[in-house]
Amino acid sequence: MDKARALAGAVDEARQWGRLMELARIGAIPGDGVNRQALTALDRAARRLLIGWAEAAGAQVSVDAAANLWLRKEGRDPAAAPLLTGSHMDSQPEGGRFDGIYGVVAGLEVLSALHDSGVVLERPLEVVAWTNEEGSRFAPGCMGSMAWSGQRPLEAFAENTDADGVRFGDALAEHLAAESDLPRRPLGGRPHVYIEAHIEQGPRLEAEGLDIGVVTGIQGSRWFTVTVTGASAHAGTTPVSLRRDALQAAVRAIQALNTLMADPSDRLRFTIGSLTVEPGSSNSVAGRVRFTIDLRHPEQVVLQERGDAVEETVRRAAGPVAEVAVAESFNAPPLDFDPAVIADIVAETQTLGLRWTTMPSGAFHDAQLVASVAPTGMIFVPSRDGISHNPAEFTTAAQLAAGTRVLAAALARAAN
Ligand code: GLV
Ligand code: MN
Ligand code: MN
Repeated sequence: MDKARALAGAVDEARQWGRLMELARIGAIPGDGVNRQALTALDRAARRLLIGWAEAAGAQVSVDAAANLWLRKEGRDPAAAPLLTGSHMDSQPEGGRFDGIYGVVAGLEVLSALHDSGVVLERPLEVVAWTNEEGSRFAPGCMGSMAWSGQRPLEAFAENTDADGVRFGDALAEHLAAESDLPRRPLGGRPHVYIEAHIEQGPRLEAEGLDIGVVTGIQGSRWFTVTVTGASAHAGTTPVSLRRDALQAAVRAIQALNTLMADPSDRLRFTIGSLTVEPGSSNSVAGRVRFTIDLRHPEQVVLQERGDAVEETVRRAAGPVAEVAVAESFNAPPLDFDPAVIADIVAETQTLGLRWTTMPSGAFHDAQLVASVAPTGMIFVPSRDGISHNPAEFTTAAQLAAGTRVLAAALARAAN
């Protein structure tokens, strides 16, 4: 495993940190945060920076029909199935500087380390930036990896709109036009292995004084959008008994959902993160309310049972005054990563002398989709105070570099 050693040794902590800080300026918000939504001008500006660095490291750049961005460096055998790593470059609306972008920059750092060290792996190395992982501009998340892995056709997302009513299909077309100078590659592939580096986004590694989380799998997630429709009316003249108040119905529905989702063991995660009221005026009774549900659990039976009960629960609680529609936009079952990939990551983490543990992921990741077509694993680095999806998200340059060394070594090991 000399190549693994040499490649890990060529990872440059300061270069990686500098690139992350430069990228964090694109879409910067107060408090060290980032708001860089998928398929926007900011997203494109960040991608151009990445492309420049990749080309300087001797990588070929291409884009596919889902706007997933690919950076490829040849190995000894150009016909061999590639090693794949990467993550996403879009952020939450009030996001941090590391969620997603770390995995892309870590992959780029491995490309740069290959370039600098002269190490030639048996297989090509590809780094991918998946489109719209967060799902905050266009729901659902993981669109790029879902379309690439064939789990959902790209066309299935075309009519999904953002908060301004822009269709995903139009945003994608505009984006691809702006990147028409890049070679187009087909959607889909069969990598030899996929390893994604990511910040933990939870408190465990820091609390236990560890450097690396070797991720064993990802809990399941389901996303729903609930629409409760009543009738808008005058707030001063309409007797309560005659109202069809969508907001009051939604409040009853949310209370009933809280009861449905109650979990004394505190393993189930139930979140209503977005709620809109129409017409949204102080002196009008609400005519329509729309809210989202993000439901997660490590066990498929629980996810199935509780998720399937959402519609009936909302309908019963809302009562006859309101109509209820529930649409499911995302359903990713719980997943175990590949034991051989986990073993490779563990072996290289130990060789590098790092402190580590195995752990499941509470967040979803593109790796959850890629796992259907390639042996897959993930590497976590600590998150300060466990904070993520927040501008205060932080990991030190040294912690990030340690994760990238493990990534480099594990990819080199998997190449054989
Ligand atoms: C990913 O951002 C997630 O919500 O788990
Ligand atoms: Mn992420
Ligand atoms: Mn995220």
